[in-house]
Amino acid sequence: MREAVISLEGITKTYVNGKLVVPVLHGIDLNIYEGEFTSIMGPSGSGKSTFMNILGCLDRPTSGSYKLDGEEVATLSDDELAFVRNKRIGFVFQSFNLLPKLTAQENVALPMVYAGIAKKERSERAAQLLDSLGLGERLDHLPAELSGGQRQRVAIARALANDPSIIMADEPTGNLDSKSSIDVMDIFTNLYKEGRTIILVTHEPDIATYASRNIVLRDGNIVEDKVNPNMAGLTRKGGAAHV
Ligand SMILES: Nc1ncnc2c1ncn2[C@@H]1O[C@H](COP(=O)(O)OP(=O)(O)OP(=O)(O)O)[C@@H](O)[C@H]1O
Ligand SMILES: [Mg+2]
Repeated sequence: MREAVISLEGITKTYVNGKLVVPVLHGIDLNIYEGEFTSIMGPSGSGKSTFMNILGCLDRPTSGSYKLDGEEVATLSDDELAFVRNKRIGFVFQSFNLLPKLTAQENVALPMVYAGIAKKERSERAAQLLDSLGLGERLDHLPAELSGGQRQRVAIARALANDPSIIMADEPTGNLDSKSSIDVMDIFTNLYKEGRTIILVTHEPDIATYASRNIVLRDGNIVEDKVNPNMAGLTRKGGAAHV
């Protein structure tokens, strides 16, 4: 039996803003194994982004246990959480979240600054990553000088900067046309074939077909969790270990 990369028990999240108390996640149990490509779907407001932010160590659960590679991260401080995130997880946002005054290459190099990598190596690796995603001619462009699909590829290159074993993405194709969406999903498919663990939120059923495992969230609970037989066999690691 393989070890779970991500192991969740009884994860809840309740937002409290003054008198307003909004319970969103109601006790999620989930194991994700190395090399799985998991999609998370569900209606708007069902808690997908809330869940993804917890998975991506961008936020903490209100209660419950989250073990990442066996280490409890649910109770870490902000700084500790940022450290874990930078080292282990690459996160891709729907709205790209690139820094507007930095070039494509500088945006991709930034996570390596926090990881303590020397400048020359940062620039070289950033250029290499951008080149591998078809942006070798766009290194010096600012985000505003790139198309949506190109921006998202820069954001994916940035997510890969520290060579994380886990890539997470919240609606990565949400702002893209269909051609760019296919390009971006081809990139995720290649990352999956390389053996990386991928978790992706989408509201588009077409996008979920790229994943080896399909989870549906409704009102803050997992109501469906299925293997996608078309994709589950594509990598050595991405089998249906959780069933
Ligand atoms: N900071 C917050 N404070 C209070 N409530 C919040 C906060 N963030 C989200 N919520 C509420 O939590 C619920 C889930 O929001 P979330 O963003 O996780 O949904 P989602 O499934 O990602 O939706 P969408 O598909 O529209 O992106 C919503 O009812 C939302 O109003
Ligand atoms: Mg969302």
